[in-house]
Amino acid sequence: MRSPWEDRRFAERSLEHMDRVLLPGTPWEVNFLEKILGLEPGDRVLDLGCGAGRHAIEFALRGYRVVGIDISPWLLRVARQRAREAGVQVVFLQGSLADLERLLDEREAFDGAISICESGLGVLGGWREDLAFLKSVRALLKPKRRFVLTTFNGLRRYRRWQEGDERFNFLEGIQRWKTPPDWEGTPLKEEERLYIPSEIRMLFEMAGFEDVRICGCAPGRFEGQPLGIEDVEMMVVGTASS
Ligand SMILES: C[S@@+](CC[C@H](N)C(=O)[O-])C[C@H]1O[C@@H](n2cnc3c(N)ncnc32)[C@H](O)[C@@H]1O
Repeated sequence: MRSPWEDRRFAERSLEHMDRVLLPGTPWEVNFLEKILGLEPGDRVLDLGCGAGRHAIEFALRGYRVVGIDISPWLLRVARQRAREAGVQVVFLQGSLADLERLLDEREAFDGAISICESGLGVLGGWREDLAFLKSVRALLKPKRRFVLTTFNGLRRYRRWQEGDERFNFLEGIQRWKTPPDWEGTPLKEEERLYIPSEIRMLFEMAGFEDVRICGCAPGRFEGQPLGIEDVEMMVVGTASS
């Protein structure tokens, strides 16, 4: 299934939303990420599903060497333009996180990795593909370095499911999404595997992460707060085993 993010109009519309709702809180998010990743000046950071580069550029402004990967050519064009305007160098690569192994060489060891705001995990084809992706991230991290991911909190979706709701297959944990009827252009659709915290912990551990911690988060509010059952998103922090 083609990703809706490969559609320029979808990416443009989403960027408007991200610029309005997410962009202003980015420095606060990076304050937290910098600390939890335990970064030192000059460290290498990998931003998976980097979009228009809001985190990648903020990390680069703080002196880190950053690689950002995204499936959307159009968002990456914006990211490169914004990096130029900010006067920083970031390596932006285009491709799917399902192909992470092919996009980056395992010898390219990173000191920290992030994947923020539903940026790949869940839409790669199913839990096996998500596990393979997490294993690739693990392989790209130096031992004892961390990966921070934010994604939908499946608990909330299960709790809100009602008889007749066909958009969520609770047996498989799969959410179906499609563009509304007033969408002009080719209709787009996507299936996303949602995880409850215990499942995602298992996946992280199976991929070779230890000390896996799960907490709540919201745009501009990354504080390691406890996860609430009604939180839209959760944050997962895993440490690459040695
Ligand atoms: C909601 S945006 C968040 C972007 C960015 N992380 C941020 O916080 O601003 C989700 C991003 O995930 C990217 N994405 C979705 N599926 C992907 C895949 N299979 N491989 C790489 N990137 C993907 C999209 O292109 C989009 O940039």
